[in-house]
Amino acid sequence: MENLEEKRKSGAWLIGGLGGIAITVASGAFALGKGLIPPTGMVTETDNFRGLELLPADLLEFGGCDIRKGNALDIAQNILQESQNIGAACLPHITDRLKKYDSSIEQGLATNCGKTITSLSDTSNDTQVDLAVQVETIRQHLRSFKKENNLEEIVVVNLASTEPELPLREYHFDPAAFSTQITANNLDSVRASTIYTYAAILEGCPYINFTPSNGALIPALVKLAEETGVPVMGNDGKTGETLLKSILAPMFSSRNLEVLSWAGFNILGNMDGKVLDNPENKKSKLKSKDKLLSEILGYDPHSNVDINYVPSLSDQKIAWDFIHFQGFMGTKMSLQFTWQGYDSMLAAPIVLDLIRLALLAKKRGERGLMSHLGEFFKTPIEGKEYQHHRQHELLIHYAEQARKTIT
Ligand SMILES: NC(=O)c1ccc[n+]([C@@H]2O[C@H](COP(=O)([O-])OP(=O)(O)OC[C@H]3O[C@@H](n4cnc5c(N)ncnc54)[C@H](O)[C@@H]3O)[C@@H](O)[C@H]2O)c1
Repeated sequence: MENLEEKRKSGAWLIGGLGGIAITVASGAFALGKGLIPPTGMVTETDNFRGLELLPADLLEFGGCDIRKGNALDIAQNILQESQNIGAACLPHITDRLKKYDSSIEQGLATNCGKTITSLSDTSNDTQVDLAVQVETIRQHLRSFKKENNLEEIVVVNLASTEPELPLREYHFDPAAFSTQITANNLDSVRASTIYTYAAILEGCPYINFTPSNGALIPALVKLAEETGVPVMGNDGKTGETLLKSILAPMFSSRNLEVLSWAGFNILGNMDGKVLDNPENKKSKLKSKDKLLSEILGYDPHSNVDINYVPSLSDQKIAWDFIHFQGFMGTKMSLQFTWQGYDSMLAAPIVLDLIRLALLAKKRGERGLMSHLGEFFKTPIEGKEYQHHRQHELLIHYAEQARKTIT
């Protein structure tokens, strides 16, 4: 145990640290470390990634922040029991690490996040604190986490609730102009996610935006990351309905079948679903889920995505998609699918993949967008490729190149 603690030189700092995904990521890593669960669902545990010297999950230290108060152990118990998997049986063996994780959770920010997120917050006085001070506070949290755990590197992952869209202005495209807005304390120029990302980049921490919140990786911050040598990537983890879309849509293209309509209906019962029930927050998600269809097909079929909150489902997400398409002699046909998943269980293994790959990118001296990670996101930033199998080929190619440089 002591040896392992000494060996933990890298960490992950989870924004939204008491949320469903964050708790599953941490519990999953602890259980993996003890050999209690297999790494099913982790892409980086497949043969294509052997020999890359990716950090084993038990060598990661975890910390984070949240705007709510809560107990990581109780939250883990609820999630793992509700998902009726082998996780609940692991709890007694990972209690110590969950307690340590819990004690690391700092108070987060709810700056300009809209009323739904602000209503979750246990302290909603962020509007009274200057933006520059908020940036410094988060930088300080990151530095303390690093110092207290004797870490060399930390990856920051945004797993917080989806914010309303941030309207982009000219100053969001230039690092210097953006920095002026922080100094001028222009509250409208940021959401909380913007401050977290800015602080992470200034601290040299690789950064992943797993949420659809567009305020997180604004163009000015992507540029700043590029200039300062920090790897970053987003937006919005691709785990369920959109994953299937990015696999099925290319089939229609390759067989020259015309998609007339694609209608998707999602129901979910966790807190993410509750937040997305607010039209302002939902708009960010819908935009992200709908984009790839026209990108893959090369035209704009009629499409709509609906998301509804059904509390009794808890972490279960059900998506029913109806695809109406046209074939030879104008024959109209249809495909329907129903996807039933547990949101946090689908997301957590790929968050662990992203953390490991972000650490690798930092070690390799990469900067700016990690475009090889496109397959993990619904709307990969500046992504030119939306077809899942091609995105996966890009990642495998990257792994092959990276392996060659390992001495
Ligand atoms: N499969 C998936 O579950 C999936 C896929 C893609 C994206 N996402 C996105 O990942 C995010 C997390 O999902 P989840 O299911 O864990 O949600 P969740 O509601 O369980 O957790 C979100 C956590 O973030 C906290 N939070 C909200 N605003 C914050 C802020 N400004 N600073 C710090 N903490 C804050 C909340 O208190 C909560 O604990 C959501 O934005 C969701 O849309 C999820």
